Amino acid sequence: MPNSLKARDKQVIWHPYTPQKYMPDPIPIVKGEGCYLTDADGNRYIDAISSWWVTIHGHAHPYIAEKLYEQAKTLEQVIFAGFTHEPAVRLAERLLNVLPGQFSRIFYSDNGSTATEVALKMALQYWWNKDHKKRNKVLAFNNSYHGDTFGAMSVSDRSVFTRAFHEKLFEVVFIDTPAVGPANGREQSAVDSQQWASIPWDEVACIIYEPLVQGAGGMLMYEAAGLNALLKQCREQGVICIADEVMTGFGRTGKLFASSYMEEQPDIICLSKGLTGGTMALGVTACTHRIYEAFLQDDTLKTFFHGHSFTANPLACAAALASLDLLEKETCLRSIERIGQQHQQFAASLATAFPSATKNIRSLGTLFAFEIVQGKDEYLNTIGKVITQKALSKGVYIRPLGNTVYLMPPYCITENELNKVYEVIRELLGELQTIYPK
Ligand SMILES: Cc1ncc(COP(=O)(O)O)c(C=O)c1O
Repeated sequence: MPNSLKARDKQVIWHPYTPQKYMPDPIPIVKGEGCYLTDADGNRYIDAISSWWVTIHGHAHPYIAEKLYEQAKTLEQVIFAGFTHEPAVRLAERLLNVLPGQFSRIFYSDNGSTATEVALKMALQYWWNKDHKKRNKVLAFNNSYHGDTFGAMSVSDRSVFTRAFHEKLFEVVFIDTPAVGPANGREQSAVDSQQWASIPWDEVACIIYEPLVQGAGGMLMYEAAGLNALLKQCREQGVICIADEVMTGFGRTGKLFASSYMEEQPDIICLSKGLTGGTMALGVTACTHRIYEAFLQDDTLKTFFHGHSFTANPLACAAALASLDLLEKETCLRSIERIGQQHQQFAASLATAFPSATKNIRSLGTLFAFEIVQGKDEYLNTIGKVITQKALSKGVYIRPLGNTVYLMPPYCITENELNKVYEVIRELLGELQTIYPK
């Protein structure tokens, strides 16, 4: 149909992370409710990845909608340089109350990439303001992903996402995520010791890390004890620690923040995605007084010259406040726990049922992931696209990263709905075994 939404879309839209030449028809979505998305033909899909990891309370939550409407009638937007408003201040107060560590200031931006971009600029300018200009190196992990702006790309692993820009990205010292720690009853691994010994510590301004789970890099999980040891080392060396909790924040890993699994806490933390319950674009970069203090200077050049048109948008702040209300409810905390338990049981049953078709089955809180044993372990492995199409035909939306299948459901998903998702994955694995017999 020439005038269908799909046809009109194909004339004017450029979709994200989508090869344009062979783009399949986009699915027109007309409604979201709880964990369901409904398309124009009336098909319903369980959104098992919370629409790129954001809708933690499900779609179109009536409480958030109500709070948004109230705010929209009162104050929808105001420049945030020289002005302030209740939702921004209230949200900052509440976040400072629940964040792990000793944060003292909240800086607002628009999304996860800007939250990490702001964090990097804060950390680098901290040393510049203090006239330690030699401290200008950034440490980051192999397989990391921190966003799509240039700074965020620079500190992300060099990958298919960044290949076209490599020569424009600034240099970063990449190391592996810590392998083992005392929690395993073993000392820090020789590999880690070797890696850490070769770091030019007195030139390192900051380290940026996704605590415990590297999301877009393939849902790679690593241990709290190892990270804690590295953060301790960083602290001893005066290095600013930046936790990128854009994905792991707000309950995803079973605790409110993944950093709570560690004793060592960051100096800067980046938040977005679940912050507004996935309803509005908002980024937060929180810092400790140590960082903020370096900007309290007479010299105007030492100002943090950074801001966005929509910094602290009142609607986004109101949505975030509403999302926090929901998150703090006992029912929500219980759901997060129950999803974690269901994932663990499913992990055990999947390993038994498909020992040769699956590998690295893992879960942490509401996150679940495994690799399909088929082709290379990489983002460009096309099996993911096959899985997405097949799952949609069975009423479930998942979007594997290459051959890494993962689940990140909204916390409102019921036990039965989650079991349905598991059932579809089992069916798909069964079908794949007949398509690609070993
Ligand atoms: C850990 C992490 N940091 C930053 C980002 C970038 O967030 P955004 O897509 O909102 O720019 C992402 C997005 O997936 C992420 O997972």
